Amino acid sequence: MDMNNINIEEIVKQVLSGMTGTGASASAPAAAPAPAAAPGVIPKTARVAMMTEKKHFELQEYPLPEVGDDDILVKVEGCGVCGTDAHEYKNDPFGLIPVVLGHEGTGEIVAMGKNVKVDTAGKPVKIGDKVVTCMIFKDDPEITMFDLNKKNVGGADVYGLLPDDDVKFNGWFADYIFIRGGKFGSTFFNVSDLDLDSRILIEPCAVLVHAVERAKTTGILKFNSRVVVQGCGPIGLICIAVLRTMGVENICAVDGNEQRLAFAKRMGADTSVNFMNYQGIEALTDAVKEAQGGHLADFAFQCTGNPKAHANIYKFIRNGGGLCELGFFINGGDATINPHFDLCSKEINLVGSWVYNLRDYATTFDFLKRAKAIGLPMSDLITHKFPLEEINEALETNLAMTGLKIAIVNK
Ligand SMILES: NC(=O)c1ccc[n+]([C@@H]2O[C@H](COP(=O)([O-])OP(=O)(O)OC[C@H]3O[C@@H](n4cnc5c(N)ncnc54)[C@H](O)[C@@H]3O)[C@@H](O)[C@H]2O)c1
Ligand SMILES: [Zn+2]
Repeated sequence: MDMNNINIEEIVKQVLSGMTGTGASASAPAAAPAPAAAPGVIPKTARVAMMTEKKHFELQEYPLPEVGDDDILVKVEGCGVCGTDAHEYKNDPFGLIPVVLGHEGTGEIVAMGKNVKVDTAGKPVKIGDKVVTCMIFKDDPEITMFDLNKKNVGGADVYGLLPDDDVKFNGWFADYIFIRGGKFGSTFFNVSDLDLDSRILIEPCAVLVHAVERAKTTGILKFNSRVVVQGCGPIGLICIAVLRTMGVENICAVDGNEQRLAFAKRMGADTSVNFMNYQGIEALTDAVKEAQGGHLADFAFQCTGNPKAHANIYKFIRNGGGLCELGFFINGGDATINPHFDLCSKEINLVGSWVYNLRDYATTFDFLKRAKAIGLPMSDLITHKFPLEEINEALETNLAMTGLKIAIVNK
């Protein structure tokens, strides 16, 4: 602990002595060269990828902020591109421009204030530890890990979706991120025991850990349950992975893309159905049933943002079975079901799932270790890695939907 404190003081001094002032310069400096500081030395300035208009990021260089007693400065190693980033990139639905995006990031602590001793779960932290951020509970900064079951990210902010301000280093698409302490309400976790790819996947995996926790509340999901996972994008594929780490073995993947269905099999689905090969819901239902040895599913996870897919999935579930709908992070429009046939008379146990809570994050760290231990190809979910300089290409690749998870990985 003493060693850490010495390091902290030295590094904070280094930062302070190198600084020409705090906060942003009045006008945004133009695209800057990569920082040339020697390893272990914190530069005076660093770059952020500022989205200055729709479909355009610009690298801008700013002085690194002064690290206060409760703050943490993190050197970014990498950050996944999320569907939410893609929405913001395309249309700015959150009205955040100018903004530094990136909320699926991870990096190494290079400086921290003297009051920072432990992460949000109470685990000790020191310079050099690898961390991820989670929610920012601005209105409730005293919140602790153990009264969070009831709170999900819906009512909170996250780094990477914060309005721009003088600090500038508010998102993970940058060289550094500044985690503000005290009343700001930041939460963060020491995840030094996970490799970089796993750390980049924590946020999307937490979505599925939460969804499976929601599914478990129905009491239907068991070791030997027959489960349908509809939609094999990153969300559906990770859903299969979470189920596999729980020992669920009878998984049928449904999608229209053969490559994704093949990945679903690698991830542990034992059967797959390509809905494009069937005309009409009856034929599709028969195919799903046949894939499960002539049985309808005990439980189904809906992992597409397609309202038609929501309507379809009830047909794949047995009477008294369960359904977790998690495909609509954003409004995808209305779905038409027959409440009598689909829900009521079948006594379907339906749960919705949206994002995650802090507790799910802790579970996710364990899930990622288990997934690796049983040989699930989690890293292969990251199909593209771009340096920060190519962030526009990274977002375009995400929009083109040619890969699965796209990530920015800093040099
Ligand atoms: N609940 C949450 O908190 C949460 C969090 C993140 C994402 N999501 C949502 O999850 C959904 C999936 O995310 P993703 O990143 O995997 O998206 P994605 O677009 O990469 O994958 C969706 C998949 O669904 C398939 N699909 C489309 N229509 C289908 C149909 N009728 N039947 C079967 N498959 C069909 C597509 O071929 C595609 O492979 C998105 O709509 C997203 O909004 C929810
Ligand atoms: Zn995300």
